[in-house]
Amino acid sequence: MTAQKKTGPDATDVRPAPVISVIGTGYLGATHAAAMAEMGFETIGVDVDPSKLAALSAGEVPFYEPGLPELITKHVASGKLRFTADLAAAVAEADVHFVCVGTPQKAGSHAANLTYVENATRGVAENLTHPGLIVGKSTVPVGTAARLRGIVREFTPSGIDAELIWNPEFLREGKAVDDTLHPDRLVWGGASAAADAVIREVYAAPIAEGTPVITTDLATAELVKVSANAFLATKISFINAISEMCAITGADVSTLADALGHDARIGRKFLNAGLGFGGGCLPKDIRALMYRANEIGANRVVGLMQQVDEINMGQRERVIDMTIEALGGSVLNRRVAVVGAAFKPLTDDVRDSPALNVAAALHLRGAQVTLWDPEAMETARRSFPTLTYSASMEGAIEDADVVLVLTEWDEIVEASPAALAAIVGRRFVIDARNCLPVTDWVKAGWTVRSLGRPTPVTGAPVSVAAGTYDAVATAR
Ligand code: UDX
Repeated sequence: MTAQKKTGPDATDVRPAPVISVIGTGYLGATHAAAMAEMGFETIGVDVDPSKLAALSAGEVPFYEPGLPELITKHVASGKLRFTADLAAAVAEADVHFVCVGTPQKAGSHAANLTYVENATRGVAENLTHPGLIVGKSTVPVGTAARLRGIVREFTPSGIDAELIWNPEFLREGKAVDDTLHPDRLVWGGASAAADAVIREVYAAPIAEGTPVITTDLATAELVKVSANAFLATKISFINAISEMCAITGADVSTLADALGHDARIGRKFLNAGLGFGGGCLPKDIRALMYRANEIGANRVVGLMQQVDEINMGQRERVIDMTIEALGGSVLNRRVAVVGAAFKPLTDDVRDSPALNVAAALHLRGAQVTLWDPEAMETARRSFPTLTYSASMEGAIEDADVVLVLTEWDEIVEASPAALAAIVGRRFVIDARNCLPVTDWVKAGWTVRSLGRPTPVTGAPVSVAAGTYDAVATAR
């Protein structure tokens, strides 16, 4: 798709395509800016961080996201994509302004920190030199956009038309480029007829592909995003709660999830039991939802999300307890190999990573933790410099008393259990992501413990209290 010219209802009404500014060049903003350029628009990415801008301008992305550096390089070279710290200049040039700044969890509270969104909106409004459409994409508590409209009214220079709409983003880390270019659905709220026409023009390419469009009010648009993440989190915590019953009774949570998944009303996705969810979105979004629900008196949501959060955090405890039990009651001075630090594969993001959390907790209990991750070594080291990091998976596993698989990277899923058995100190693995081909591992002499899978084991039975079921089966 190219957006060089817009053809209006009247064939003679040929107007230039809107120029796009994207405020904030983090995960969301950098990806969105690159996608806008790919869709044919002249796009200006704005950020306050000069090192980020320099990196992006050179086609370097300060986080690991497959396909994004290539897309940015392509469009910096084509001249469609630029990055600047000069908000005023970018706003003066652009017609549609996407607000893509972060809404992190406030320190000491479950509430979202809205300072960046408020400042970015105000910055756009006060620098408008011609009519502008401000499009909020950040994840915000319901009611925020209505308040931001007040900021737009207050700070837009008189005589200039400005409109703010909300258009949440649903991109997943590791699949961000594809999710942005080919979204499941497009949602925007609060648009006038004129704004609706402009945003349809911006999204002409995915709309032409048949992407469903849902237009609604501001509050619904804001809530769609948090509800989507809350539902995904609930699905994960549901299967993790059931995995506890599987662990106690000897049922197999993976088979159970497969069977559930065949029901089209349920679906198999997000039913992988294990160490639970982390990352920059799901945990903070359910907490912000809880906080906002409490503020407005929607108490059932508070209770539900509280349970989801507790079950999720409890999975980390389960794995810590399993490790302690695997080592005979104490981890002190025992060698623990940890495979995975990222909160999921295909990212180097360790924000609220269950893997890094478990590794750090065992370290604090006196274990000698050696960690390896194919992408997240640097980000993990910045968060937890006191852990020992190995340059290779084999280096981490060598001589270990127990191996913990905490992120389901292909490298471990596809590894040869026989080769690893030859170098490990004790053939004991805790598969906290239910991702290993267990039978192969058992054949290679490993004792395998999982969360809710009655794995064939070779070791001595363990107690039900630790949340593991010991089928005492032999290798098949
Ligand atoms: C999420 C949403 O999926 C995305 O739509 C939203 O825009 C941002 O938040 P992301 O944070 O990138 O995306 O991660 P996601 O793929 O959703 O995974 C979140 C966490 O859930 C990971 O820690 C993952 O390991 C865990 N997870 C996922 C499970 O534990 N089980 C599953 O079955 C699926």
